Amino acid sequence: MTAVIPAAGLGTRMLPATKSIPKELLPLVDRPIVQYGVEEAVRSGVRRVALVTNPGNTLSASHFAPHPALERALAESGRTEALAAMRALAALAEVTTVHQEAPLGLGHAVLCGRRVVGDAPFAVMLPDDVIDAEPPALGRMIDVFIEVGGPVVLVERVPHSVVHRYGVIAAEPLGGGVHRVTDLVEKPAPDEAPSDLAIVGRYVLTPDTFAALEATGTGAGGEIQLTDGLRRLLRQRPVYAWELEGKRLDAGTPAGYLEATIHFALKRPDLAPVIEEALGAARGVAGR
Ligand code: UTP
Repeated sequence: MTAVIPAAGLGTRMLPATKSIPKELLPLVDRPIVQYGVEEAVRSGVRRVALVTNPGNTLSASHFAPHPALERALAESGRTEALAAMRALAALAEVTTVHQEAPLGLGHAVLCGRRVVGDAPFAVMLPDDVIDAEPPALGRMIDVFIEVGGPVVLVERVPHSVVHRYGVIAAEPLGGGVHRVTDLVEKPAPDEAPSDLAIVGRYVLTPDTFAALEATGTGAGGEIQLTDGLRRLLRQRPVYAWELEGKRLDAGTPAGYLEATIHFALKRPDLAPVIEEALGAARGVAGR
């Protein structure tokens, strides 16, 4: 199975940080956002990655490629731990870059991955949605995919006031956190949302999704929406959803990015005290 990671958007909500640095390369603690996604894929048994980037972005793929000069320098200065980490990163996954010529939407970005995916089931992982879960969310979804024998989208219950930011499903629960999807709507107004179950950044899909996307016109925001493609697919076959068990962090907005940074820093024994102290000191300053 291939994981398609669309990363060719403009990242406007993170400007000016993303003006020249691709959003997926912004670091959360010690590694770029996209590395969390690739590590989740690998822990889920998926080693082949199609990274969809804009044509000017050569940095994102090079993060996963060997860096002989760096490795030589680390070897010569005896930094064996860092050297091993760099070699492990280069061997982590088989990353192929695919270009999306213009940001025509998430559905279009997924279509760009078709050549690498071939005629086989595939995953889509949105790098901004960083998921802290054990076992990994994608792995759980692949298990559900095998069990139900059809496409599976990841959903999370969100406050009703924010449903307009998401693709939202209408669904019938089947038990065990699995739902059968009866409809999907992209960015509904709160009074038109069929539920509070929002689609978040993981999908395990069948190859007929590509034909459905090709037949899908532009939707919300003048873009080809993945949700619209899945809605079309739903006319042809059952589609399922699995409710996330774990913590999702949206690293694609300043507030979510901060929360994700603190979340992962607090998990590090060497950094947690630093964060606690900094937050305590900041509260003191604010209280003065
Ligand atoms: P987002 O809408 O969250 O990202 O798309 P964005 O468009 O980069 O960010 P804003 O809204 O301007 O702040 C979800 C994912 O889909 C990718 C994005 O790179 C992101 O990882 N994407 C989106 C594409 O690859 N191509 C597109 O045309 C649109």
